[in-house]
Amino acid sequence: MRIISPGDSVSTFGDLEAFALDVLVGLSEMNKRLPSKYLYDAEGSRLFTEITRLKEYYPTQCEKETLEKNKDRIVSQIGDEPFNLIEFGSGDGQKTSLLLDHFLKMDLDFQYVPIDISRSAMIELCDELDRRFPLIQVEAIVSEYFSGIKWLNNRSERKNLVLFLGSNIGNFSHAEARVFLRNLWSCLNSGDLVLIGFDLKKDIELLLRAYNDCEGVTAKFNLNMLARINRELGGQFDLSKFRHFGTYDVFSGAMESYLVSLEKQEVFIEEIGRSFSFGPWEPIHVEYSYKYLQSDIDNLARETGFVVREHLHDSKKYFIDSIWEVKKSENNTSE
Ligand code: TRP
Repeated sequence: MRIISPGDSVSTFGDLEAFALDVLVGLSEMNKRLPSKYLYDAEGSRLFTEITRLKEYYPTQCEKETLEKNKDRIVSQIGDEPFNLIEFGSGDGQKTSLLLDHFLKMDLDFQYVPIDISRSAMIELCDELDRRFPLIQVEAIVSEYFSGIKWLNNRSERKNLVLFLGSNIGNFSHAEARVFLRNLWSCLNSGDLVLIGFDLKKDIELLLRAYNDCEGVTAKFNLNMLARINRELGGQFDLSKFRHFGTYDVFSGAMESYLVSLEKQEVFIEEIGRSFSFGPWEPIHVEYSYKYLQSDIDNLARETGFVVREHLHDSKKYFIDSIWEVKKSENNTSE
């Protein structure tokens, strides 16, 4: 097992300065917003794992079922060449373990290459994998997703299978998703595969319940964003004066999560050196989670240079893990 830092990810900013700048920019907008990536500090990741175990939060259960039921289909899509199993944003690795376990049993020739910007997340994941799967060759890369893939491709001739599980792609707008996928396409070789999770459009009541659970875990998770600003940036948010609000926009097809100020208030943030004013019922936008139709997925693949090999779904058809192949013609290779 190795953890590699290719070194091209060194930012000019420290993490804390970047966080403070994002908070300053987001809270200065007319429509206030905070980037959802800041939900996942240690406490946020713990709370998110709790969300994935709630009965209302179907996406994780459905994706697990999908992968479990279709693991042989995935193996047959890969074929028998040696390959790199690359993963973006592995989270706690629960769903990946299911595939790793099966690939080992089937005696496939692969190395597992998780890529993440967070060194601590990579160390934690590698320790866990070492304990559970001592036989798997792991090369963890600490970098941005695309620089990680490029770094790997300069050193490996193997075929690639890229996992982008969960509803991660759903957190991008449609325009952002296209840019992301086109970038991914240009980092890969013709014939490489990607397996991407998409949450599907479904009964709106089910969606609303998944993002507003009755135990209030989702509310705690979302409010942890403000608690994190308090902890790391010396913020003075009173969490009892904000509430989590999850709603569905029927036009855009996105679940939207907000933190809403319950009264008129001023909140000082020490690291930024100023206060921010909130009106009564003023929202801060935190996250979009776009839901798809199968036909949207087909279009997205076609528009970004991929060919759909297969859509895999759970028994309720709430979720799709879609397997795509990179198609590049001779004069169409990007690099
Ligand atoms: N990205 C996840 C999703 O779209 C995370 C999530 C679940 C989330 N519930 C939330 C993010 C509530 C913000 C608020 O499903």
